[in-house]
Amino acid sequence: MDTQFLDTLKKRRSIYNLGKNMTLTDDEINSLVKMAIRESPTSFNAQTTRAVILYGKKHDQLWDIVVNRLKSEVPSAQVYETTKQKVASFKAAYGTILYFTDRAVVANYEKQVPLYAVNIEPWSEQGLGGAQQNVWTALAANNIGANVQHYNPIIDGEVRLAFDIPETWVLRAQMPFGSIEQPAAPKTYIDDHDRFKVLK
Ligand SMILES: Cc1cc2nc3c(=O)[nH]c(=O)nc-3n(C[C@H](O)[C@H](O)[C@H](O)COP(=O)(O)O)c2cc1C
Repeated sequence: MDTQFLDTLKKRRSIYNLGKNMTLTDDEINSLVKMAIRESPTSFNAQTTRAVILYGKKHDQLWDIVVNRLKSEVPSAQVYETTKQKVASFKAAYGTILYFTDRAVVANYEKQVPLYAVNIEPWSEQGLGGAQQNVWTALAANNIGANVQHYNPIIDGEVRLAFDIPETWVLRAQMPFGSIEQPAAPKTYIDDHDRFKVLK
């Protein structure tokens, strides 16, 4: 059995201590992200996932939006200090990939395929999840760390304005990426017995 792909899957982890010491160029990262998303399946090949790759000042701007927006959300000044440190760790990364679902395409398929209308929206999110994990794994294969954050929907309006996001694109996830400054701790797994059934 060829385990190369499975080994790469194992290599993908949530890396929270990210830095800016990159071994790939921005152009290489762009083509990696584009290829991983392009090759990820979507229901009816509807290709509903959209992505915006932020570098430099634009990357910093995103995390400034997040930290400023969180000020009115957290319960105390003390909690805000911890929040600020957490957001600073994302800003310390090299760049951020924003993932969106184009709800106009979703609505169109709901109309075109009424039999599956109820499934189209969850399928678009499954498609986005697959695309996100393919990018995450392809980055890991190149020794680039990443993690996934969800400050949507509270940042949606400001993100739309700041990065000129089309009205129909709905923000679903934020993925800071960069050099791996500290590897992830070992993770635990539930018992296979509770997760799988193999029947013959
Ligand atoms: C759909 C999805 C949503 C997640 N949301 C967050 C999040 O909002 N913040 C975060 O720090 N990690 C988030 N994670 C990361 C998980 O916590 C992480 O993948 C899990 O604990 C396993 O660790 P690993 O990624 O190192 O294998 C998310 C992961 C997935 C697949």
